[in-house]
Amino acid sequence: MTTTLIKGGLVITAAEEMPADVLIEDGRIAAVAARNSAAAASFTADRTLDATGRYVVPGGVDAHTHMDFPFGGTFSSDDFETGTRAAAWGGTTTIVDFAVQTKGHALREGLDQWHAKAEGRCAVDYAFHMILSDVNDGTLKEMDALVEEGVTSFKMFMAYPGVFYSDDGQILRAMQRTAANGGLTMMHAENGIAIDVLVEQALAAGRTDPRHHGEVRKALLEAEATHRAIQLARVAGSPLYVVHVSASEAVEQLATARGMDLPVFGETCPQYLYLSTDNLAEPDFGGAKYVCSTPLRPREHQAALWRALRTDDLQVVSTDHCPFCFTGQKELGRGDFSKIPNGMPGVEHRMDLLHQAVVDGQLTRRRWIDLACATPARMFGLYPKKGTLAPGADADLVIYDPEAQQTLSAETHHMNVDYSAYEGKRITGRVETVLSRGEPVVERGSYAGRAGHGQYVPRGLCQLLG
Ligand code: URP
Ligand code: ZN
Ligand code: ZN
Ligand code: ZN
Repeated sequence: MTTTLIKGGLVITAAEEMPADVLIEDGRIAAVAARNSAAAASFTADRTLDATGRYVVPGGVDAHTHMDFPFGGTFSSDDFETGTRAAAWGGTTTIVDFAVQTKGHALREGLDQWHAKAEGRCAVDYAFHMILSDVNDGTLKEMDALVEEGVTSFKMFMAYPGVFYSDDGQILRAMQRTAANGGLTMMHAENGIAIDVLVEQALAAGRTDPRHHGEVRKALLEAEATHRAIQLARVAGSPLYVVHVSASEAVEQLATARGMDLPVFGETCPQYLYLSTDNLAEPDFGGAKYVCSTPLRPREHQAALWRALRTDDLQVVSTDHCPFCFTGQKELGRGDFSKIPNGMPGVEHRMDLLHQAVVDGQLTRRRWIDLACATPARMFGLYPKKGTLAPGADADLVIYDPEAQQTLSAETHHMNVDYSAYEGKRITGRVETVLSRGEPVVERGSYAGRAGHGQYVPRGLCQLLG
């Protein structure tokens, strides 16, 4: 049994902050004891990591990634090996990725494919949600079995007609199923039927640049779909988690529902907090780098997102990491924005960008950890194994230097993508050391991980329901 002692740091969880030492035994947290306490004085270990002047925080839980994800005739450019390595560099020690059901095929086939993509390749632990692309009697039956085996959440799309789209009847039926089997419905809430009309009209009028992607995917159509999803969930009696919320009008829908004590949750992503339609308007097709759905919004939406993160109208920050290289992939949409593969890179930078929000006064340190670690773990049935530092938890932990300065850039990032959405952005704070189940994956700024260390984690049910 290997033991590790982390000494001298400020331990931060969603619940508290204290100068404390952390003892790790056999891949798990054995004890956390206040600095200079008798308990801390009794700690002995094979190796000691000095965390003086550093934060000691739980490893990040990124509940929304797409590694090796098929979209628009291509695949996201990070596979499970490169994507989880980049996650580790950024202090994220668990990802929940989306297995995909292909139309006309069983959930089981999709899930098996995703297990095959990930098995033996991950640097950090991973779990799966299931994307439903074909809700029928067989799919509904299979959902029960998936919940039993630890795939406890199901994403549906009100967008992308003809690809991932589910109609309201299919959505209602799947929600009724999760109401019965304890699963959590996740929703991509945009009115895709209306958006497709606007896309066609924009292209016919010669408005083909990336910025039109943002213009046709209107905030009102996100708000409308969010409202509809909430009402369908009410009718079904099921909880609802709305992914990648970007419009202030959609936040209002969530806030109203939560004000009524409905089990409705929402996530946003760093791109909606830091980037805007200004980026989509970058010249020379540069805006293609920022094409994702829901789209980036005008800057005015950001204040509502930050506020909702503070007031708990939004509970989780995930990345929706879905990178496509500019060269050869984003370029598929030159002359037609609707052919630009949707998605942005980000799995490496979530912990840092949210720490920057602490520096900027948008979030407290504990809320940073709550949004990035504890609540995603609770939301998706991983807590307290993941998302906190407490006896018995997996020793997934980050030693974070809150004073270090860094500049985000494609030159230095580890994601397998040829641009950074945050090129040149200065960040205060940096991941120094990362442990996954007690094993170093990043050690004082050097990579120490290995493909295959990461294990599949079956999940329990959502832990935020009364
Ligand atoms: O643009 C995005 N978000 N791509 C990934 C697929 C999705 O809708 O989450
Ligand atoms: Zn099949
Ligand atoms: Zn989506
Ligand atoms: Zn996504």
